[in-house]
Amino acid sequence: MVSPMNAPQQTPRPAQTGSAQTSSAQTGLVQTGLAEPARAGFGAPAPAASPVPEPRMTARNVNLWYGQKQALFEVSLDIPKHQVTALIGPSGCGKSTFLRCLNRMNDTIEGVRMEGDIRLDGRDIYDRSIDVVELRQAVGMVFQKPNPFPKSIYDNIAYGPRIHGLAQDKAELDEIVENSLKGAGLWTEVQDRLDTPGNSLSGGQQQRLCIARAIAVSPEVILMDEPCSALDPIATAHIEELIDALRANFTIAIVTHNMQQAARVSQKTAFFHLGKLIEHDDTEQIFTNPRQSMTQDYITGRFG
Ligand SMILES: Nc1ncnc2c1ncn2[C@@H]1O[C@H](COP(=O)(O)OP(=O)(O)O)[C@@H](O)[C@H]1O
Ligand SMILES: [Mg+2]
Repeated sequence: MVSPMNAPQQTPRPAQTGSAQTSSAQTGLVQTGLAEPARAGFGAPAPAASPVPEPRMTARNVNLWYGQKQALFEVSLDIPKHQVTALIGPSGCGKSTFLRCLNRMNDTIEGVRMEGDIRLDGRDIYDRSIDVVELRQAVGMVFQKPNPFPKSIYDNIAYGPRIHGLAQDKAELDEIVENSLKGAGLWTEVQDRLDTPGNSLSGGQQQRLCIARAIAVSPEVILMDEPCSALDPIATAHIEELIDALRANFTIAIVTHNMQQAARVSQKTAFFHLGKLIEHDDTEQIFTNPRQSMTQDYITGRFG
């Protein structure tokens, strides 16, 4: 068995397939290999290419309790590479809880207990040997409410690369900042005011700043928890286009309560109800011909 860390690169990231603003070949984030040393083990491709899209992450039999209250029941789900997986379901069904399991954000919540197996490129992310800081570099997160740091636009993006030691010098850091802002479709709007505070931007721009901050450390996976629910329709459309472009270089899992959004941006959809994964399939299948009557009832607006 070949260790994923030493495996040959058989599944290269697609180059030049995204829009001009998001291709990693153009951003240089991948080509320069800046992030490689800091993400040993997580950045490596899986061992073999296969005709079926390989999962970037796998979850098996995940159960989770907040104190006495069980919030997830035997959830098993694959998150395929270079696809967008949408997590849908009524409020309180466990979407955010499950998403947080994928980069161990629940570790920070008092009284949480989890059982089950979650892997990134075959590696158990709950294994004792895992460095959680390194894990969260590989599996980044974007939240519902844009949350720029109280710093300049430049320093918002430079923060992660600095703490992970991804740039040798100022020129390299400048390059990462520029390429990340380009990747998030924000560069042309902010290139003349990188020293102004991140929170001086509009809501939609702030959310793209947070996405730029997430991609600045070259993650494998980006988790997004209702990233558009605080935004107006135009800013929302902008983020949805961005999500579609980002999947050329990243793997994305997005929680959304907006079913049109799930249908627009995702290739896979997972429907949760009361902490259980009811159905998981190609998005088209879920929205046109779901197998479960509960999914049908939810997507046709009968509850939720
Ligand atoms: N920090 C927490 N402490 C206790 N219970 C929580 C916490 N976060 C979520 N829950 C509970 O877990 C269940 C799932 O919540 P959540 O994952 O936030 O659902 P969703 O994102 O689908 O709306 C709900 O019953 C919620 O009340
Ligand atoms: Mg939620």
